[in-house]
Amino acid sequence: MTSLSLSDKDPKSIKTDTLVVGVARSDDGPVLVDGGALPRPLRSSLAASLRGIGVTGKADQVVRIPAGKDVAAAAIALTGLGPVAKGRGASYDPETLRRAAGAATRALAGTASATFLLPAKDLASVAAIGEGALIGAYSFTRHRARTTAEVQAPVSSVTVVTALAGDKDATTAAARAGHVANAVHLVRDLVNTAPGDLPPAAFADAVVAAAKSHPVKVEVLDEKALARGGYGGILGVGLGSSRPPRLVKLTYSPRGAKKHLALIGKGITFDTGGISLKPPLGMEAMKSDMAGGATVAAAILALARMRTKIKVTAWVPLAENMPSGTAQRPSDVLTTYGGRTVEVLNTDAEGRLVLADAIVAASEEHPDTIIDIATLTGHQVVALGHRYAAIMANDDDLRGQIHESATRSGETMWPMPLPVELRASMDSQVADIANMGERMGGMLVAGLFLKEFVGDRADGEGKIPWAHVDIAGPSYCEGQPWGYTPKGGTGHGLRTLVDFAEQVAAG
Ligand code: BES
Ligand code: MN
Ligand code: ZN
Repeated sequence: MTSLSLSDKDPKSIKTDTLVVGVARSDDGPVLVDGGALPRPLRSSLAASLRGIGVTGKADQVVRIPAGKDVAAAAIALTGLGPVAKGRGASYDPETLRRAAGAATRALAGTASATFLLPAKDLASVAAIGEGALIGAYSFTRHRARTTAEVQAPVSSVTVVTALAGDKDATTAAARAGHVANAVHLVRDLVNTAPGDLPPAAFADAVVAAAKSHPVKVEVLDEKALARGGYGGILGVGLGSSRPPRLVKLTYSPRGAKKHLALIGKGITFDTGGISLKPPLGMEAMKSDMAGGATVAAAILALARMRTKIKVTAWVPLAENMPSGTAQRPSDVLTTYGGRTVEVLNTDAEGRLVLADAIVAASEEHPDTIIDIATLTGHQVVALGHRYAAIMANDDDLRGQIHESATRSGETMWPMPLPVELRASMDSQVADIANMGERMGGMLVAGLFLKEFVGDRADGEGKIPWAHVDIAGPSYCEGQPWGYTPKGGTGHGLRTLVDFAEQVAAG
């Protein structure tokens, strides 16, 4: 775990392996952005040589050079910020700083310490630099035996230089950055773990272990308890696997909390598609089909660590979607928790089946808000690509608030509709609803399916405000690493959920 500290010392004398400074690109070439912290002579010689050493200021370019005698650090890393900030009092938005800091820590893996000289005049900037640096300081070596040493260890200590170093709010922001980064890393670890090593029971055990020393209660329903409770969706998806399903429920209920937020995350530990088998090309990425579940578990733990004043329940329905002689078949009908029947036309549309059970169960407690997060549809990736998640909701305000939380956190998400006319395409010949409908707009059809299972508000005044976040695209990075995002599990969505809960808690 990487440590984060703030310092207002003269960077000249800070003992660190690397000083990280920013470079932006302007029409006249690269511009040094060091928050005014480098000693003058070094600053001007560096600025003069940028072009010559091929530094462009483009985002994700990190160039490391010897630091020279003017500073105690051994090296200087120049991290790209993208287009130069223009206008009077121009500043870089937090996400630009977060990505530049994260790209730097990724590039500096293998060294022990890094000190960031980026514009850090206000709290949001300090928080973003700290967060980006910590989130970028990640590696996953669990499955390496002979090649562990080939993976450079993440930077172990990060310092952000800022005049706010002694400030109480800045200290709180730095601590928050640590909790958030740990939570993002937990999501990544769970996603990256080989699915053979993480069947539903092992996932549940991992959550129980992670929750230790947090003020969070964890309950795990095994296959027998699920059968007694009538969780037909989770059980149906789990039928094909020799490794039975689970439902994990976490509760964080701090004294004085006024609101109750229910989080639900899809936990398919591996999605082969079942009898409606997926093609082999790219199937390995389906180990990430539990990313939503990992996200809600990590989010509630982060909120508990920060003692955020809001009651949160997190539900993770876990199953492995496998084809076998015991698997459910296309046209089977299952009875979801609470009694609604579903005709399973396609066993690969399994996420909505496990989520249906969890949404009904969560609704029974009449929380003020329900948010589910899931790698639900390939259509999400088609619609929004690999970096944007989609937000759908039965409540316009809630969808807007989640979008605001995403934007504030630096997570790319975009609102999507739930068009009523698509609902009829899921009418079943034999059951209350089918798990598949119109192919076009498949992401929205999936959202409409989930919407059916949302329960009534405690006061009977309509449905519980609910939102659905489809993270199929951004939860797993198969392209090149960028900013603070490595290949593999990304943790996308975690920061939005944490921010949203904090906003609700703050009233
Ligand atoms: N887990 C997949 C969705 C997915 C696809 C996530 C690609 C990440 C990347 C989901 O269970 C699925 O298979 N959905 C089907 C639904 C269809 C059968 C209605 C899909 O999107 O093709
Ligand atoms: Mn599937
Ligand atoms: Zn799936």
